[in-house]
This record gives sequence, C-alpha cells and structure tokens, in this order.
Amino acid sequence: MNFDLPILAPSILAADFSKLGSEIQTCIESGIQWIHCDIMDGHFVPNISYGPSIVKSVRVTAPDTFLDVHLMIENPDNFIEDFVDSGADLISVHYEACPHLHRTIQNIKLNGCMAGVVVNPATSIELLKPILSDVDLVLIMSVNPGFGGQAFIESSFQKVKDLARVRNEMNLGFLIEIDGGVGKHNISELSQAGTDVLVAGSSVFKTDDIPKRISELMHLAGIGAGKIA
Ligand code: DX5
Ligand code: ZN
Repeated sequence: MNFDLPILAPSILAADFSKLGSEIQTCIESGIQWIHCDIMDGHFVPNISYGPSIVKSVRVTAPDTFLDVHLMIENPDNFIEDFVDSGADLISVHYEACPHLHRTIQNIKLNGCMAGVVVNPATSIELLKPILSDVDLVLIMSVNPGFGGQAFIESSFQKVKDLARVRNEMNLGFLIEIDGGVGKHNISELSQAGTDVLVAGSSVFKTDDIPKRISELMHLAGIGAGKIA
C-alpha cells in the first residue's frame, strides 16, 4: 500500500443507492483513492445496511480504488471470506464484537487482506494495546455506530492524539482512522491531530455538488497540498 496521507474515504452509506455507480465514479474523478463500506447487521448495531454483493458491485465500478470495509456485525469470522472474495482490501472488526480478537485479525490476514480494529466511543484505546502490533489500522468511532449523519463526539480528538502517542512509543506503523460526523467544521483539526484516514459520509454525498465538496474537504485536510497550518 502506498498512499499519501491523510486520506479522505467517502462512506457510501450516505450515497444515493439509485445511482451508486455514478456517485462512486464522481468520487474517483474527484481524486478519491479509498471508499469506505459500512456493513450493519441489525444486531451489533440497530440498523441494516448491505452485504458482500454490494461490495462486489463497488469493486466492479472501482477496480483500482482501495476498499475499506467496516464490519458492524456479530460473528464477523463467519463473513470474512465473503468480503475478501467481494474485493475488500482492508477489513476492520469491532473490539466490542470479537471475544477472540487475535484469532479474528489472523483470520483476516490469512485470507490475504489487511486488518483493522475498531473502537466505539465509550471504549478506551488502552484496551487495544495487546493487539496493536498485529493490525494495519485502528478505527476510532466518533459517533456510536449504526447511522450516518450523527454529531461528532468531541472527546474523539483526544483519542486520536493519545493513540498517535502510543503508536510512537510502541514504534508501530498502523494507520489511524476516524469515522462519524466528519465535515468541513472539523476535518482540518482532525488532520492536524494525527488522523491518517478521514471517513466522511453525509458531508461528501449530501450536497448538490460532490466534486466541489470533495475538493473543499481535501483542501481543509491538507490533502495533496501539505497540511494547513
Ligand atoms: C456509522 C458509520 C459511518 C457513517 C459515517 O455507523 O460507520 O461510516 O457512514 O457517516 P457520517 O459521515 O454521515 O457521520
Ligand atoms: Zn464506518
């Protein structure tokens, strides 16, 4: 994997599914290199989204785009092969959903995929220390997972800073991702706090001019032009 950081990863949960292909194409033409796919099962989170067949369609539409798959499901081990076969490049599982987390992370890697771990807003990053040397990415939820369009939880800034410090102390290289309530009002500060991957759903898709919005968010995050001081 070789990407310039930080990365803006639109979450297609907020896209218009009646024209998903063309909205993804618009993202790619606007310079997007990652797409974030939110998988919800109605058990781990109180909402149902979509499954491997949609991820496969995204892969067909975006053959060269990095597919970042966020599993908000119980028993994720049962579905890892399906998402790898659908074209996932990275699969993240929730700390709160995995009683045997090392086994699940190994399962993802043995299937030839990069592996991430996710923490809900109320879960301390201290709990992740035993797994940090095994993961490619840590996703900090800045809303309680299940829905797009929620307000950013402000304490997430400190979590990003603390995790960046721990990463440095442990001399590790995992990516730090944030997800939920990211938009024009906070993306600059999040980038400066040390976030490597910025997921944005509503703020990318709930606008009449997606290319303009992507360009604004990228500029504010310092993507492609050095971070804004
Ligand atoms: C929430 C999902 C997010 C969501 C973000 O459960 O994991 O990826 O789509 O949506 P916004 O950016 O609208 O908060
Ligand atoms: Zn997500």
